[in-house]
Amino acid sequence: MLPAIDALPRFRLFEGPSPFHRLERLEAALGGRTELWVKREDLLPLAFGGNKLRNLEFLVGAAVAQGADSLVTSGRRWSNHCRLTAAAGARAGLAVHLVLSGPPAPGAGHQALPNPGRTLDELLGATVVQLPTANRAARDAAVAGLVAGLRRDGRSPYVIPVGGTGLPGAAGQVLAGLELLDQAVARGAMPDAVVAPSATGGTQAGLLAGLRAGGSTAAVVGVLVACPDGELRPAIEATLAALAPLTGMAIPPAEIELDGSALGDGYGRPTAAAHAATELLARTEGLLVDPIYTAKALAALIAGVRSGRWDGRRVAFWHAGGTPGLFEPLDGTNGPGSHDDPAALAGPGGAGA
Ligand SMILES: Cc1ncc(COP(=O)(O)O)c(C=O)c1O
Repeated sequence: MLPAIDALPRFRLFEGPSPFHRLERLEAALGGRTELWVKREDLLPLAFGGNKLRNLEFLVGAAVAQGADSLVTSGRRWSNHCRLTAAAGARAGLAVHLVLSGPPAPGAGHQALPNPGRTLDELLGATVVQLPTANRAARDAAVAGLVAGLRRDGRSPYVIPVGGTGLPGAAGQVLAGLELLDQAVARGAMPDAVVAPSATGGTQAGLLAGLRAGGSTAAVVGVLVACPDGELRPAIEATLAALAPLTGMAIPPAEIELDGSALGDGYGRPTAAAHAATELLARTEGLLVDPIYTAKALAALIAGVRSGRWDGRRVAFWHAGGTPGLFEPLDGTNGPGSHDDPAALAGPGGAGA
């Protein structure tokens, strides 16, 4: 359907669509005023799943096309993008190097365990550098040093941005939007809105572009989980502009809808509303969301339903994955170096998705 995307190099990591189904017991628990559906990106098949596998099909495709022999990327210690990069690298036979920006698991020093995200990254074969700080400049310097070292050793690294955002990764999210439309048509359940967590904004930009390319006018509401509106919006605008030649459509910035109501004290810091949303979904539908991304998006969706915003509408919750985050030791602050350092959270590159 989109020849410019079909022409991009792609390394297949999964087959078939992620499930799309209704949430009838959650609907009833919320008073039956809104029809609720879920897109199960958490069920994409590698390494506990998650929507970043979509980006990685195009990122690994580009790496292979360039003759790279290794992947380098970075994120916070719970990064789903990092774990899935490790998994994708394993599938493609590429070495994976991860820079995890700090702080490590709270309460027990810089190299402390338990650190579930890192444990999974290493199980998947990645080489991990754990930084003691979440400072963005320190993270970027560590990535640059790592890449220089690999090149000196005769390796050919391909560097993936935080969260796999921008092009070519967001092309995968365009296809996810089109996939949703196919399923919605088949089920007679075209959504009026999609509610998704938004950290680097690549998912939101790609979904919006995909829905519009497929002829849908559904709103795509990005629930802020990492940084405030003013910092994320320009990144989404830039990704939409970069996607326009691939989809043949320019999307006006006014279409970018962001909801900051669930962010709480910031990235990776739990909120009571997210916890309550997690319990409600678990106890009505038997589904799990994670405290860092998807529970906050769900909390915003539930608050919207309760406020009457979605009365009589059909809304799709974008379950982007991230469930291993349930096992991350998160305290109120995530330790020194997270919130004390403004650069840690600033901007889409700082989110560390
Ligand atoms: C589970 C999950 N949901 C949502 C997001 C946010 O996606 P994006 O960075 O494309 O905004 C991420 C990012 O890593 C994620 O891991």
